[in-house]
Amino acid sequence: MDPRPIGVFDSGLGGLTTVRELRRLLPGEDIVYFGDTGRVPYGSRSRETIIRYARQDVAFLRTFDLKLIVIACGTVSTTAMEVLARENPIPVLGVVAPAADAAARATRSGKIGLIGTQASIRSGAYEALIHARDPMAQVISQPCPLFVPLVENGRFRPGDVVIETVVSEYLAPLKRRGVDTLVLGCTHYPLLEEVISNFMGPDVTLVNAGAEGARAAAERLTFEGALSNRTEGGGCRYFVSDRQEDFSRLASIFLGWDVTGQVGQVDIGQY
Ligand code: DGL
Repeated sequence: MDPRPIGVFDSGLGGLTTVRELRRLLPGEDIVYFGDTGRVPYGSRSRETIIRYARQDVAFLRTFDLKLIVIACGTVSTTAMEVLARENPIPVLGVVAPAADAAARATRSGKIGLIGTQASIRSGAYEALIHARDPMAQVISQPCPLFVPLVENGRFRPGDVVIETVVSEYLAPLKRRGVDTLVLGCTHYPLLEEVISNFMGPDVTLVNAGAEGARAAAERLTFEGALSNRTEGGGCRYFVSDRQEDFSRLASIFLGWDVTGQVGQVDIGQY
């Protein structure tokens, strides 16, 4: 039994896809969330910068006494996961391996589409892990650099002509190639799930990296007997590195519960 909270972080709103699933699976756990909204997006930056930012995010989270950290960010998971896991005495889990597992399980034709940030696609981490599970799989990848800024600006709803146009431009090549599974390899992308699913059609299985990361963390804590002794009533505290108001508004819509008044602001440059 371990009553300490779980730390979760992302470059912005995207990691809430992990928080939402963790809440559903483990409603008795406390969560501390950090979204680096002052420096989002990470995906267009260099490896060195991503590692530097991620170290600061973890240093802030570790001012709390945590039992585990989930990197709820595809970009940090593909680029800085090993560094963070090596440097920290508590488990640091990412979203890439769980999403690769889910994709290899889901595909029937072996044709898997992969979308993510430029840094994630460049790293080759998803492909390597998918191939480790299914050497015959054909992975067709596509960076989608405009998705994160659009989501952070609240442009994720069906019927929004801007996001629908960008989705069709990025995803048309994957649709043409006939993928039957599409890995949403950036944790912001599940906020676009409806728009993406409308475009790809009902026969394409979407793999939500944020939710898969939450499932893997829940399994690990359960296996290690490290859950709190509560089955409900866990709390969640949110921190961001820019205006709380914008985050609170979008987070409340996305999570489906009101987070107003529970969001703090952090000067992440201090860590
Ligand atoms: N949610 C992050 C990810 O999963 C977004 C990265 C970014 O800020 O570009 O990759």
